Amino acid sequence: MAEVLIKDVSFAYDKELILGGINLEVEAGDFVCLLGQSGCGKSTLLRLLAGLEKIKQGEILVKGEPISKPSYDRIMVFQDYGLFPWMSAGENITIALKQKFKNLSKAELKARASEWMRNVGLDPEIIYNKLPMEISGGQRQRCATARAFAMDSPIMLMDEPFGALDAVTKALLQDTVLSLWEKGGEHGRKTVFFVTHEVDEALLLATDIFIFGQSPSKIIFKHSFKGQKKPRRETMFTDPEVMALRNKIIKIINDEVNAKAAARE
Ligand SMILES: Nc1ncnc2c1ncn2[C@@H]1O[C@H](COP(=O)(O)OP(=O)(O)OP(=O)(O)O)[C@@H](O)[C@H]1O
Ligand SMILES: [Mg+2]
Repeated sequence: MAEVLIKDVSFAYDKELILGGINLEVEAGDFVCLLGQSGCGKSTLLRLLAGLEKIKQGEILVKGEPISKPSYDRIMVFQDYGLFPWMSAGENITIALKQKFKNLSKAELKARASEWMRNVGLDPEIIYNKLPMEISGGQRQRCATARAFAMDSPIMLMDEPFGALDAVTKALLQDTVLSLWEKGGEHGRKTVFFVTHEVDEALLLATDIFIFGQSPSKIIFKHSFKGQKKPRRETMFTDPEVMALRNKIIKIINDEVNAKAAARE
């Protein structure tokens, strides 16, 4: 059975249709990257998957069950980090952990939060007690990533989590997320939905790439690396197969934008 099945999902916040019939089938442990122009509805689809918006047309099944509300089984990482500004970096993690792991003592929560900080390259001795405004954007994103992985949810929804970071910090965090995903959690590899604007980021991270057309959007292209070798950072810019796929994806996105612009004229 598919871990996540999205069947003919159309969605409008008000009158304007944003998603125009999305179909996706995702297996447990897939790393799905969603690409598409700004405004095509990528965040909207994540919000539906998170249970933050109500599905009105079509259905989304997780392990065969329709989504009815938000759940700790589907954890979201927002582009703006989503940390509470009045709580320390460490407390931002423990407060989430406390919701899910109700039996852990205060000391155990702190130990677990600190361990996850270390897992994403943060030193809890330095960062734990700082407020989000007292740490850098990259450190905030690490903290949000630590919190999401600490929750050990089978499904992770990541909305352009590294969009605001410099290239070096971004590369480090991409590697961190990839290795945490490869390692898996208590229930095996997590299923990740990762929204990005960057084709190279999708090529590096994804087991499966889906491109949205412009709204009302449908999936206009998919590619799976399953059963093939995944692109690696060291070789992706010299591997002719990866480069051909990269050019193809960029062309598909550009053609879609031009077609819509021509239709408006
Ligand atoms: N809460 C809302 N109420 C009404 N309209 C909304 C709401 N959130 C988003 N929209 C509209 O829905 C459309 C899709 O928005 P969405 O945020 O899903 O796009 P996106 O693909 O994530 O774009 P970006 O790449 O810029 O983040 C946009 O036209 C946006 O204005
Ligand atoms: Mg978005």
